[in-house]
Amino acid sequence: MNIDGVPFRTIQVDPDDGWRVAIIDQTALPWTVSIVHLATVEAAAHAIRHMQVRGAPLIGVTAAYGLCLALRADPASEAMEQAAAMLAATRPTAVNLRWALERMLARLRNTRSDDRVAVAYEEAARIAEEDAAQCEAIGRHGAALIEWAAAAKGGGRVNVLTHCNAGALACVDWGTATAPIYMAHARGIDLHVWVDETRPRNQGASLTAWELGRHGVAHTIVADNAGGHLMQHGAVDLAIVGADRVTRTGDAANKIGTYLKALAAHDNAVPFWVALPSTTIDWTLRDGIAGIPIEERAAAEVTHLTGRTDDGGLVQVQVTAPDSPAANPAFDVTPARLITGLITERGRCAANEAGLLTLFPEQR
Ligand code: MRU
Repeated sequence: MNIDGVPFRTIQVDPDDGWRVAIIDQTALPWTVSIVHLATVEAAAHAIRHMQVRGAPLIGVTAAYGLCLALRADPASEAMEQAAAMLAATRPTAVNLRWALERMLARLRNTRSDDRVAVAYEEAARIAEEDAAQCEAIGRHGAALIEWAAAAKGGGRVNVLTHCNAGALACVDWGTATAPIYMAHARGIDLHVWVDETRPRNQGASLTAWELGRHGVAHTIVADNAGGHLMQHGAVDLAIVGADRVTRTGDAANKIGTYLKALAAHDNAVPFWVALPSTTIDWTLRDGIAGIPIEERAAAEVTHLTGRTDDGGLVQVQVTAPDSPAANPAFDVTPARLITGLITERGRCAANEAGLLTLFPEQR
């Protein structure tokens, strides 16, 4: 990700002390780029739970580094298992969290406690590097779709719609849904992104629009309810979204509202692609609607909004009557039948078991 032309990663070990974990506090965006240093496992868990870091791949990497911080305090096996359980409980839907912790534990359980801290940092760094490389590969496989859309329009501007933030901010670099966009942009394709605001937390309006803007990609924020209308009027050439958990049959959980966009895309014959690294696939699940746990977040995220006043201050306002209850399911599941295809680091495939197994034969 470039921030005003400077390459930047969402998470890294502080180069000055070599152990604290530096993150961009995403709750301060788009107003302030605030770097927070995590020094304890509790701080890492807090950052995930309160969404200073968010997005499926990034919470996995943060949990991996959180375990490193826990081991610095106590490298004994019992403390390590407790810390991993605490991190795993921070958010339920994105499977990357469980995947990253299981990979860390698989390595660390076989490591002497004296060596665990060094080995943990090594493994967490590997997970982070792999994520960046996987997202870059997703970009290569996905950019072709945008190139083909441009060719079909005789070189005319391609309009891509995306939901939530499946951008570099949600990963270590590049993003999943945004990687094809950044790659196509770099290749000189004329493109424009419709950014769903993504109520209730506005990840589209405050994060995706911010990072596309810093990268110089043309974009327009739209209310979540606008997508169907835009599709009916030919203003969307393709939709690309991310995912928090994809079943082996291709059902995809993503930010609440994704399913409605897929329905509208289906009704209007707009290609609807889901971009994901393989760390987002839950090979144990077949039925996403029955099997994927959907996080229920605080009602206050629906009833209240935070914004900046003209004089630069941040305020929180209530947008509902004080006695109106609110519900806040944070994700929904788009059934595979509504998905044109999946874009993974190994290539594109149909959103079904046969398609995924073609790319990942080791999961047969
Ligand atoms: O609640 P969030 O902001 O963590 O939800 C994030 C999303 O739903 C993203 O679209 C998903 O994690 C894909 S990230 C590459």
